[in-house]
Amino acid sequence: MSIHLASRLDRVKPSITLAVSQKAADMRAQGVDIISFGAGEPDFETPTHIKDAAIEGLSQGASKYPAVGGITKLRAAICATTEAVHGFQVSPDQVLVSAGAKHSLFNLFLALLNPGDEVIVPAPYWVSYPEMVRLVGAEAVCLKAHPEKGFALDMDELRAAINDKTRAIVLNSPSNPTGAIYSRELLQNIADLCVEKDILVIADDIYRQLVYGDGEYVSIASLGEEIAKRTILIDGVSKSYAMTGWRIGWTVGPKEVIKGMTKIQGQSTSGANHLAQIAATEALVGPQGCVGEMRDAFDARRKRMVELLNGIDGVRCQEPKGAFYAFPDVSSFIGKSGASGDTMTDDVVLAGYLVEKGVALVPGSGFGCPGFVRLSYASSMEDIDEGLARMKAALEELE
Ligand SMILES: Cc1ncc(COP(=O)(O)O)c(C=O)c1O
Repeated sequence: MSIHLASRLDRVKPSITLAVSQKAADMRAQGVDIISFGAGEPDFETPTHIKDAAIEGLSQGASKYPAVGGITKLRAAICATTEAVHGFQVSPDQVLVSAGAKHSLFNLFLALLNPGDEVIVPAPYWVSYPEMVRLVGAEAVCLKAHPEKGFALDMDELRAAINDKTRAIVLNSPSNPTGAIYSRELLQNIADLCVEKDILVIADDIYRQLVYGDGEYVSIASLGEEIAKRTILIDGVSKSYAMTGWRIGWTVGPKEVIKGMTKIQGQSTSGANHLAQIAATEALVGPQGCVGEMRDAFDARRKRMVELLNGIDGVRCQEPKGAFYAFPDVSSFIGKSGASGDTMTDDVVLAGYLVEKGVALVPGSGFGCPGFVRLSYASSMEDIDEGLARMKAALEELE
């Protein structure tokens, strides 16, 4: 028997971040001592008041199907959050709750794009953007952000990338994988260009609450009425409230976009998990101290990780201003060889070499940025110290 799979599968690569986390978990299960900086998830438990709200929710009908678009209380909380953060009013029919921000993005691309349409994706990018765009038959136009300018986009290059097939640009600030934040000035320039060219902005602001030092999160949607009308906001509870496993994210956008996405969600997954929506509601309306506590812990780890990385000869790491990733340039090791004679032909081989030395991280090629690697500092201080000591020793062995 031969089974033929859909040709769309040929357009998609598996997620490299999930593959690295899985490899580290498998090695650990086999008893290998491995420290993983691969996963993009907080190591904290979901705060107790959020878990308690879910337990309480079980006795309040949460075992029934929720409305496709999301439960009333959560959608109301998202409307209030949108007004507070982005400075404009939205109604519940401009909100769709989905099974994580990843699901929100997938619904969005399905609802928005036709084959041949183009979406501009600044690189380095979160691994799933280009793959999802391709999966729905459209084209991802990856536009290089410049490491030497703090991973900022060049406005002339952005203008040149826009043509009559361009439907949208994806912005992710703070960024996974670089931790960079778009400046107000750059966002204003992008907003003006998007209004001029009448293209949509997909603002994935899932890390907006994780900003450190002198970093400032600016919502592009807050920069004027015209850009607000063209912005589709993607957000969720996974990162800021340590709720990755609950799988709740949402989209806020123009009514017709939300209606289209809701139609797709209604015929595919239906409403997101009811109990998790109750927990997410509590995350948004309950005490916010937990976010600050986790942010302070990430900040201390961020400083340590960057200091240790820059203490390795040949590694150059810019200070990440947000999210929980460091994205150092390790290109000086490409071409060098280990004691067993293996040559580090690229960052993927280098990451493979480091896994063998007991430290897992993600090669930059997966994010469209060869010569770099991504390390998550959402790990304990002990792991950061030990993992970076292993990385230093392993890199110093290369000649
Ligand atoms: C930039 C970015 N957007 C979206 C997501 C997806 O988040 P969720 O867990 O809500 O699906 C992630 C998760 O890694 C991310 O880094």
